[in-house]
Amino acid sequence: MKIKEFLEKSGCEKNLCELMGRVIPQAIKKIRETIQSQSGELAGSKNASGEKQLALDVQSNQIVVDELKAFGLVESMASEELEGLVEGKKGAPFTVVFDPLDGSSLVDVNLAVGSIFGIYPAGNLIGKTGEDQLASCFAVYGSRLTLVLTVKKGTHEFRLNANGDFYLTKENLQIAPQSKYFAPGNLRAAAESDAYLKLTNDWIKRGFTLRYSGGMVPDINHILLKGSGIFSYPGYSKAPRGKLRLLFECAPMALLAEQAGGSATDGQNRLLSQKITELHQRTPIFVGSSEEVKHAGFALLKS
Ligand code: AHG
Ligand code: MN
Ligand code: MN
Repeated sequence: MKIKEFLEKSGCEKNLCELMGRVIPQAIKKIRETIQSQSGELAGSKNASGEKQLALDVQSNQIVVDELKAFGLVESMASEELEGLVEGKKGAPFTVVFDPLDGSSLVDVNLAVGSIFGIYPAGNLIGKTGEDQLASCFAVYGSRLTLVLTVKKGTHEFRLNANGDFYLTKENLQIAPQSKYFAPGNLRAAAESDAYLKLTNDWIKRGFTLRYSGGMVPDINHILLKGSGIFSYPGYSKAPRGKLRLLFECAPMALLAEQAGGSATDGQNRLLSQKITELHQRTPIFVGSSEEVKHAGFALLKS
């Protein structure tokens, strides 16, 4: 079943169907083409988080901004690659936040990368939480181009096929409460935090299979598609709130995980309840199998 048909059948509001079923798929197809043609040279600029931008980051960002502006139903948008809000059409129903190309530094070594989107009702993001998202999704530019999305009626996977359409491949993905895989991000934090070192050793001792690529999107996609696992990216002395951004990465991922029966915290508190205080705020993240996310929270309390 084609993506838009699936969304319409699920009873999703018409404009949201259009945004999730046509506009974002259109943008990610163009980003994939750009990834194929571009090398990973630096753009010579930095993003709002002070990270060096690749030409690919800037181009992917422009593709999304152009597609959302052409769609016309976006009042404002925010990007990991831009300092402030981009004004769209006054009175339009949606505010869209996105990481246009996550893991861009992995393109040059030909590892999978992704794009991440969160959809809010139009209006000021400050004071909202990830719970207010109407929908979220990510694209995986891997051996195939897949799109994993939720409109808060479960989490589903679609794949781009030869004639350029996205078709439903997996309906109602489910993450089991028990984990069999681990994706331990920011292991440098284990060098100074005995609790994180102990937690990662515990995952090893319990025989979990390591599945970590350094790309948040493929790493969490693995948990959703295998139906089990935990992804972690804690803070540490150099970056107490970690590296990943609440708005552009963690809240969209948390919604997809919870809609698949998993959970997501910042180590202690539910991620979707974290208040947005500024566009580029960072947060530690533990996401995946609910029992394991809880276990990790207790383990970290012993730090
Ligand atoms: P981005 O490329 O959008 O800046 O983010 C990459 C992120 C995420 O994909 C991954 O989990 C994390 O960076 C890895 O961070 P380290 O390089 O610090 O390990
Ligand atoms: Mn990112
Ligand atoms: Mn990025």
